[in-house]
Amino acid sequence: MDTNTGGRIIIFDTTLRDGEQTPGVNLTAAEKLEIAKQLARLGVDVIEAGFPITSPGDTKAVAAIAENVEGPVIAGLARTNREDIERAWEAVKYAKRPRIHTFIATSEVHMKYKLRKTPEEVIAMTKDAVSLARSLCDDVEFSAEDATRSDPEFLYRVFEEAIAAGATTINVPDTVGYTTPNEFRNLIAGIKKNVRGIDKVVISVHCHDDLGLAVANSLAAIEMGATQVECTINGLGERAGNTALEEVVMALRTRRDHFNRTTNIVTEQIYRTSRLVSGLTGIPVQPNKAIVGANAFAHQSGIHQDGVLKQRSTYEIMTPESIGLPSSRIVLGKVSGRHAFQKRLEELGYSVSREDVDRLFIKFKEMADRKKDISDWDIEAIVENTLYSVPEEFALVYHHISSGNQTVPTATVRIARGDQIVEEASSGDGPIDALFKAIDRVTGLGPKLVDYSLKAVTSGKDALGEASLKVEHGGRVYSGRGVSPDVIEASAKAYLTAMNRIWYETTVNNHRNGNSRPVGEATKI
Ligand code: KIV
Ligand code: ZN
Repeated sequence: MDTNTGGRIIIFDTTLRDGEQTPGVNLTAAEKLEIAKQLARLGVDVIEAGFPITSPGDTKAVAAIAENVEGPVIAGLARTNREDIERAWEAVKYAKRPRIHTFIATSEVHMKYKLRKTPEEVIAMTKDAVSLARSLCDDVEFSAEDATRSDPEFLYRVFEEAIAAGATTINVPDTVGYTTPNEFRNLIAGIKKNVRGIDKVVISVHCHDDLGLAVANSLAAIEMGATQVECTINGLGERAGNTALEEVVMALRTRRDHFNRTTNIVTEQIYRTSRLVSGLTGIPVQPNKAIVGANAFAHQSGIHQDGVLKQRSTYEIMTPESIGLPSSRIVLGKVSGRHAFQKRLEELGYSVSREDVDRLFIKFKEMADRKKDISDWDIEAIVENTLYSVPEEFALVYHHISSGNQTVPTATVRIARGDQIVEEASSGDGPIDALFKAIDRVTGLGPKLVDYSLKAVTSGKDALGEASLKVEHGGRVYSGRGVSPDVIEASAKAYLTAMNRIWYETTVNNHRNGNSRPVGEATKI
């Protein structure tokens, strides 16, 4: 294996694995494939497509990506046991360039309490797992989970054994986002100095953002010679998330004078990838998020505006064009044609077939009849509701709310179920409570609402309201998102999306798949 990257940093994207562990994220196989295709256009070197052992659904999703996405290496995650590794191989083996990524924890606290294994047992498991993985696949990555809280001497030994057993990439995760840039620099230096064979493998880092240091720690490791960075779009990931791909890549590009490193990333694809991931995961990007936030290139104060108008570099260290942020946009509306609509779909990162464009265009026209200007959010909502939704067991036909400061809020809903229309009414603590209770009467499901938020996603008088919510049913969390110019309707749609997911999971999917991963439930390791 050639580990000399010539100053290029290998970008390993784990949006579809660690990113999918973001609370409330639950991507279907079709959504994962769509994101993987966009990651390939973005130019990532490795796509960690999933954790196949977690469910037959994830195995299928990883296999579909391995078969259909060309360019990047396709990796599947596995713990250090035979079943995990064989399943990961099963899923990635159709890729032109497959990788098995196996991991085990090496910190005392994890070995003692989580694994209940001695250090010697962990060493033995590492050797066996890496050898098995290497007998199946030429490209094997080994991760020492919680490396930054592990005894460095023990860590060196584990890495040495993994390399001797055939690992081609050694990954150093800061699993709980605990380390600091200086400490991490020293750890990488220690690994380079003390691990036999380290010069023959790629050194990778995988940082979490619990203290907001993930990007800084990754860059510190690069300065010390790490050549692979694991990251996610929009910094998604377990808890506070992972290193944000767009931040680390743009730091390397903008400060090339300092880092003297390059990547294969087509930075002009960053913005649309961010939008696509945000749209399909339902996790909004905070407005002040570096690189891809709505305010990242917005200049508010008069002094700044004046400066930028005179000379952009006064307040802009990179251009909006460099991340593919369109400088001006054609507003889509009622009179827009199919061609303009399809072009905007492509700009937003969707690669849809001709037939799907036809279906989407019909929905677009329906929306344009109700709303003057159609925003990117509207289009994302149309795509999500048309192409990626589960079958609609319950569909909203009519809703009426009566509410005021002197009345008991009541809601009436009419819901189509097959060829039947069912009407129910309920009162509640507020109009939304009444609405959800009325819907519960129709569906008979009655899950617990655990999260609900409402926001305007466009501006102007006909602004769209977006309702996002999570409900708990049978010990599982299901999410729903609804977009409409009417916030009550947006809420009803979001709630019904979650109901349809529960219905699909507990009836259709269960019967078909046995134990497949629930639609709407985050995979946990
Ligand atoms: O954070 C972590 O340690 C991980 C490993 C599986 C690489 O995600
Ligand atoms: Zn992680």
